[in-house]
This record gives sequence, structure tokens and C-alpha cells, in this order.
Amino acid sequence: MTICEPVCESGQSLNENGGNEVTRLIINGGKPLRGEIAANGAKNAALPIMAACILAPGKVKLNRIPDISDVRIMGEILRQMGAEVCFDGKGSVVIDTTNLSETKAPYRLVKKLNASFDITGALLGRHGDASVPLPGGCVIGTRAIDMHLEGFKSLGCVIGQEPGGFVSVKANKLSGGRYHFAKTSVGATKNVMMAAVLAKGKTILENVAREPEVVDLADFLNACGANITGQGTTKLEIHGVKELHADFEYSIIPDRIETGTYLTAAAITGGDITVSGTNPEFLKTFLRKIGKAGQKVTTGNDFIRVEGMKPILPVGAIITEPHPGFPTDLQPQTLTLLSLSNGTSYVREKIFDMRFNYINELRRMGANVEIEGGTAVVRGVSRLLSAPVDAPDIRAGSALVLAALAAEGVSEVSGLCYIDRGYEKIEDRFASVGADIRRVP
Ligand code: EPZ
Repeated sequence: MTICEPVCESGQSLNENGGNEVTRLIINGGKPLRGEIAANGAKNAALPIMAACILAPGKVKLNRIPDISDVRIMGEILRQMGAEVCFDGKGSVVIDTTNLSETKAPYRLVKKLNASFDITGALLGRHGDASVPLPGGCVIGTRAIDMHLEGFKSLGCVIGQEPGGFVSVKANKLSGGRYHFAKTSVGATKNVMMAAVLAKGKTILENVAREPEVVDLADFLNACGANITGQGTTKLEIHGVKELHADFEYSIIPDRIETGTYLTAAAITGGDITVSGTNPEFLKTFLRKIGKAGQKVTTGNDFIRVEGMKPILPVGAIITEPHPGFPTDLQPQTLTLLSLSNGTSYVREKIFDMRFNYINELRRMGANVEIEGGTAVVRGVSRLLSAPVDAPDIRAGSALVLAALAAEGVSEVSGLCYIDRGYEKIEDRFASVGADIRRVP
């Protein structure tokens, strides 16, 4: 099972004397960031909803689609399976899956995108047959699929392993079932829900994920004519319908992780940033912790403002948990903020087993963080030092950008092929609030 490329494929380019030049961000930090940033549509809602279009033959227009590489890869996967996918360059995409006939996902593209295993449920719902490469592990941890497969079996599917590392899932006819997820899983909840909407009869799913992106997928499926209730709670009830319809428009929810990242930039640089077009309800636990760190948080029905205050205070313990708990995708950014507090905080990562992989890079910038039995002990320091650092994954990459924005002097952040997977033009967004940041070459 391969893992993510240790260095971004797209990050390498040959310079004029044939040497390797790595695409990177040059950041001259130490400036308070001030201004307003409009939130994009949520990556982790856009990806499964694009996949869910497989279930509804016809044209669907999705709005608030972020222009990030994961979305473009999902679009290419759908194209290679027979769909028509047209991005308008202004945040919308029209997907027409009328002629989507393939049941086998393209290996090279699926391997680039962990979320692409989520197309299995949609292919099952449409064709009763799916053949998808086993997802790679990634630097934040193994991406197990046991609960995806157990959930499919509860709908009458037969699982097989095919040559080339493909897993096949087949069902003569999908029939409603009952499945209790042993652990809360965002991906497995999305996948099994997509397989169940066209199954014959009723399906009950228990201990499901309650993330806003799961709710958005359920709402999208209902807009296609599915019959799902309970989204946002731990129990979903799905009554199978005969078919789903397309021919409508749908807007994706705002990205809460992108929102939290930009708000943390205000806190860590002592600035003042308002993120507009977002939903504070999605970030209650995170905002509570940011407030506990001494930051001034103001919310309205579609905006959140953070005014950075000194000193940054330690917050005791942060434990990542399924929504509505503290989001694992904001753990690196928040830990980085706490590395500049005037005390000691404890960060426990309970979702992924390798999500402290960036801490060595943060230490190179002067942070004082020790890992003790699955918990990061963060002893605040007075300042971070500029340095060249390498992003190992999307969210750790954004955390290192935050560290560079806070550190006096010039830092370089490489590993942009990870950052660009989850953040649309990150340098433009930070430059719009006063950061001295540019992408080279
Ligand atoms: C989704 O990943 C998100 N990705 C992740 O965001 C996010 O960190 C994660 O949910 C948790 O919120 C997308 O939505 C595309 P899980 P997913 O299934 O679905 C274990 C980002 O940066 N597990 O909830 O892969 C699994 O190994 C990304 O935007 C099993 O054991 O997460 C993990 O330890 C990073 N068996 C835990 O559950 C299974 O069958 C949570 O995984 C499935 C999962």
C-alpha cells in the first residue's frame, strides 16, 4: 500500500541549470494581519457531493466549489468514468453523469485523493457494482476502510479483492439494513449513506458522524429526491427510493476549517481578521478554546471576527474528537498558536495516529513541544524564529504558514502540493490582509 509521495510531485521543477527548484512560499513574518476574508465552500462537503452526482443521472450545478487540487482531481475522476464536468472558473461546476457507465475508478487519480474512496458508495447505488483502489495511507495516519466495507455488507453487498490492489463491492440488489459504526467515521458515514439511498427498504445507521459536511451531503441527496432523516444526530434513517433526479442547483456550505485557519492567523499575529460568509455554529468548540486563549471573538449569523490579544494564554487541554468536539483538522493550527502562549497546554490527538508529524518542523522554528504518550505538551515561548520548513500534509502545512507569518524575518514553506489540496490561493488570501507572502518560482 503506497503512502503519499514524501515530496510533492508537482512541487519539483527544473531550473535553468537543471537543478531541482521546489515551489514554495516566501513569508516575511512578524506583521499583524488585518482585514476581511470571504470563506470558500467546504472541501470536505464538495468532494462527496461531487461523487454523489453519480447517483442522479443528469445535470447538477454546484455553487461555492473551492478551486483546489482535490476538487480538480475529483472532477477528473468523474470525467474518466464517463461524466461531463465543467468548471466555470467562478466557483461553480456543472456535472452531468447521464453517460457515466464505468464501475471501476481510475487508479492513478484515486491514489492522489484519499477522499476518492467515497465514490464507492455512489457507484454501488448507481450500478450495484464498484471497483476502487484501496486508499493509500497518508502522513496523518492509516486510512482504514473496515467500517465502510462492513456498512456495505449490511446492505447485502459482497466484498472481494481484485488484482492491483482494488477492492470490489457488488450487490445484485441493495437492500436496506442496520449498521452500528464501531467508531465515528466521516468517510464511512458518507459512503454507506450514499449506497443506502437507492436500496430497497429502510436502513438504520447508528453512531454516525455529525460533521456539517455529512449533513450537507445528506441535504444534497434529499434535494435529489432521497429520503434521509436524522442528519446531525448520531442516528440516520434512510428510506430507499426508486431513483434520484438531477436538474437543479445546490450551494455547498462554508469551509469551517479554512475559516478557523484564517481566524488563527489573526490571533497568532496580534491582528484583526473577519471571515465572512461563514457559519459560527460549525466552530463552537474551537471558538471557545480561542476565547480561552485570551483572543477576542465576535460572531454574527454569517461572520466571525477574531482580534488578536497579547498575551496568548495557555488553554489547559485540547482533545480532538468527532464533531461537535474539537476538530482534528484545526489541531495543528491551534497547537501552533499555543506554542506562543505564556504557559503550558496539552494537546491530545485522538482521531489520527500520526497527526503530530509537523512538530519537528515547528521545533526548528523555536517551538518547545514534547510528545508524551500521544499528548503534545506545548510550553509556550516568547517568539518563533523564521526558518525553511516543509509541509507534510494539508493542515500541518497551513499551521507552518501561520508560524511563518508570526515569526520575525523570512521563512520558506515548501510542500505546497499538500497545502493547495485544501486552501485556494492561500498566499492571495493572506496577502489580502497585509501579509508579505509570495509563491516562487
Ligand atoms: C475526513 O477524513 C476528512 N476528509 C478529514 O479531513 C478529517 O480529518 C476526518 O474526516 C475527521 O474529521 C474528508 O472529508 C475528505 P474518518 P476520513 O473516517 O473520512 C478511522 C482534511 O485535512 N477509521 O472520520 O478519512 C480512521 O483511520 C482531512 O481536510 C477506521 O478505523 O476520516 C481514523 O483514525 C484530513 N475504519 C478515524 O477513524 C474506517 O472504516 C477517523 O476517520 C474508517 C475510519
